[in-house]
Amino acid sequence: MEKNLKVWMDGEIKNYEDCKVPILTHSLQYGTGIFEGIRSYVSENNESYIFRLEDHVKRFLNSMAIYSINSPYGAEELKEAIVNTVRANNPSTDMYVRPFAFYNDDSIGISVKGKKVSIFIAAIPFGSYFKGISNGIKCKVSSWERINSSILPVQAKASGNYINSTIASIEADSVGFDEAIMLSKGYVAEGPGENIFLVKDGKLITPAVSENILLGITRDSILHFAGDLGYKVEERRISRDELYSADEIFFAGTAAEITPIIQVDNIKIGSNKVGQVTSSISKYYHDITRGKNKEYLKWITKV
Ligand SMILES: Cc1ncc(COP(=O)(O)O)c(C=O)c1O
Repeated sequence: MEKNLKVWMDGEIKNYEDCKVPILTHSLQYGTGIFEGIRSYVSENNESYIFRLEDHVKRFLNSMAIYSINSPYGAEELKEAIVNTVRANNPSTDMYVRPFAFYNDDSIGISVKGKKVSIFIAAIPFGSYFKGISNGIKCKVSSWERINSSILPVQAKASGNYINSTIASIEADSVGFDEAIMLSKGYVAEGPGENIFLVKDGKLITPAVSENILLGITRDSILHFAGDLGYKVEERRISRDELYSADEIFFAGTAAEITPIIQVDNIKIGSNKVGQVTSSISKYYHDITRGKNKEYLKWITKV
């Protein structure tokens, strides 16, 4: 981890090294943490902007509510804490911000009755998620099915959900792919930590909420701005074979940003290069996140 990292825990800015959590704590043993993934970007005039802070905090609190976790802090306090954490570090670099709510209690037992909830926030200098790959990634359709809402609430960003993501990622990695694509009941759902978009005949297609996807904030941003670039978007069920015959495919997520997918299983997608629609979405998103598009300044919080 970075040296001299400042983090926020339970109301105070501290050194990362000074935040101690017992290994037996409930959230580590049973996966009951709740988290968010947020990015801050440095603009051309060297200001630091947090992208869609309001929406990330809303989802963080909603994830907690789904698991009946009473947040010790409200939305305004959390927003302020996130801004302060970014500020306490080195806001002259792009950062990944990780708020995390967890049971800070090491007594044995699955019941959470009476267990203390702590909140932690880190802001870490961060570049691209798929390190060293700039011209598109190769994905494997996972043999592991995506969890669905009859098993676990997919709209809660809960740590335990990510063991399903991790096993898909392990499988993809073990056979030389960069990332997995997960299906839900045989239909395309999402990546382990990304939403997915297909481009076909100039139109964007993305799985609907009924496909057990997380309603990503990047996905939502694209749904809002695609029309500015003249693209129509369909939210619907997508069959596996539509992946193979797509003109372009890309992942969308806070960490992954807009990541082109140039191969799925052993099949090359479209021209096997980063497509023109993906590039235009990526550039537009890049400019919005850095405050270059006046229309979308509403999505930006200055640090
Ligand atoms: C399973 C999953 N799907 C989609 C996404 C993309 O969501 P967002 O754009 O809000 O980061 C994420 C990342 O948070 C995720 O973990």
